[in-house]
Amino acid sequence: MDIEILVLRILHILFGVFWVGAAVYLALVLEPKLRGLPNEIEREVLQAISKLNSLWITLSAIITIGAGFALISRTPGREMSQLFDTGWGWAIGIGLIASLLAFFLSGWVGSSTAKLRRALQAEQMSDDDALLPLRTRIAIGSRANAVLVIVAVGAMASARVA
Ligand code: HEM
Repeated sequence: MDIEILVLRILHILFGVFWVGAAVYLALVLEPKLRGLPNEIEREVLQAISKLNSLWITLSAIITIGAGFALISRTPGREMSQLFDTGWGWAIGIGLIASLLAFFLSGWVGSSTAKLRRALQAEQMSDDDALLPLRTRIAIGSRANAVLVIVAVGAMASARVA
């Protein structure tokens, strides 16, 4: 058994699962529920979790993507030149593009959430209309992000049989 490949696969899948799970949970459960809460409670919750969320999601994404590239170069019979060439390469290539888009999109959603948190802290809380564009951006961005990571995991899971 190749221990290096085994470790890379475990790191890749473990952090990938965490990334996808967190993105889907944020988009489908946390974000809609937070939006429905009174502003003071939303502010408290955002203050407690938003930096941690960004940290863990960014870390998971970096480890997943890094281990993914390492898997391409270290797995016997696989190499970068196969991307968008063989069936395997198309599946991994689509997963790679979806992952990179998700990575940048989640950074954008994270910075929009930070803006919302600061606006709520700065007592602009009563002006819900002013916060609406920011909330809409976060809602759409987090859903699009969840779709992208689901596409990524689907593509990865189908690579061996593609
Ligand atoms: C949301 C991001 C990602 C998730 C959730 C994810 C998940 C997975 C999973 C579950 C597998 C195991 C598939 C299997 O053994 O059948 C896998 C394999 C793999 N992934 Fe990813 N992945 C992600 C992103 C990436 C990225 C960005 C790359 C490349 C840079 C990559 C490269 C690979 C490679 C090379 C394999 C091995 C495929 C094989 O066994 O032939 N993955 N991934």
